[in-house]
Amino acid sequence: MNLLIIGGTGKTGRQLIAQALEEGHCITAMVRNPAKVKLENPNLKVLKGNVLNSENVEAAVEGQDAVLSALGHKKFFIKTTILSEGTRNIITAMKKKKLSRFICITSLGIRDSRFRLGLYYTLFVIPVILFFYFRDKSKQEKLIMQSNLEWTILRPGQLTNGKKRTKYRHGPDLGSYVLTKMISRKDVAHFILKILREKTYIHKTPAVIY
Ligand SMILES: NC(=O)c1ccc[n+]([C@@H]2O[C@H](COP(=O)([O-])OP(=O)(O)OC[C@H]3O[C@@H](n4cnc5c(N)ncnc54)[C@H](OP(=O)(O)O)[C@@H]3O)[C@@H](O)[C@H]2O)c1
Repeated sequence: MNLLIIGGTGKTGRQLIAQALEEGHCITAMVRNPAKVKLENPNLKVLKGNVLNSENVEAAVEGQDAVLSALGHKKFFIKTTILSEGTRNIITAMKKKKLSRFICITSLGIRDSRFRLGLYYTLFVIPVILFFYFRDKSKQEKLIMQSNLEWTILRPGQLTNGKKRTKYRHGPDLGSYVLTKMISRKDVAHFILKILREKTYIHKTPAVIY
């Protein structure tokens, strides 16, 4: 498939690009800084662009079969709309180019998965550190759900840089009110490619954890 990957210079996005190439897909990575992409592969095209620029997004979406987003940032203490505005641009561009499959990583703990990232996140990390970030993520999810695209919102537990196990749990109602459940970025990438291939979880919000 021709896949557009957003956030490909990030820790999860890099895994997604590598595994998608291994599966034989043709990848376009739209990134702010192409020098950060260290991989070289004839099936990898790196396009300079910012998700907040609608023209950049529209150009990147052209000719794709699906869009995969691992968009994120670390501006936790500022009231930002990067995730929601960037996602709005992706959705608008996809509709304009008549593209339907969109898989987007958000997080366990958002909307109806509230409190399921464990007590530490529920009582401290989310209200104190990730307050604005989670509010924007919630808005991001709402936009996706209202989009009429063939979307999947993927909600991972806490991300690690651990190995690819390919054995993990996924589905609704996962997570824990007490403990923080983990998942490696490599397994998140594995799960994204699996649901893309199997055309599962369309219009669903699966959690993915060990
Ligand atoms: N950390 C956790 O435990 C955890 C748990 C659950 C869910 N998540 C979510 O999982 C996702 C991936 O996490 P991660 O740790 O892999 O993220 P990350 O390393 O921070 O990567 C974020 C990516 O988004 C890109 N990006 C940011 N602003 C952009 C813009 N305006 N235009 C284009 N690209 C832009 C970054 O590009 P640059 O390289 O140019 O900055 C980077 O490639 C995030 O949404 C995160 O919130 C994380």
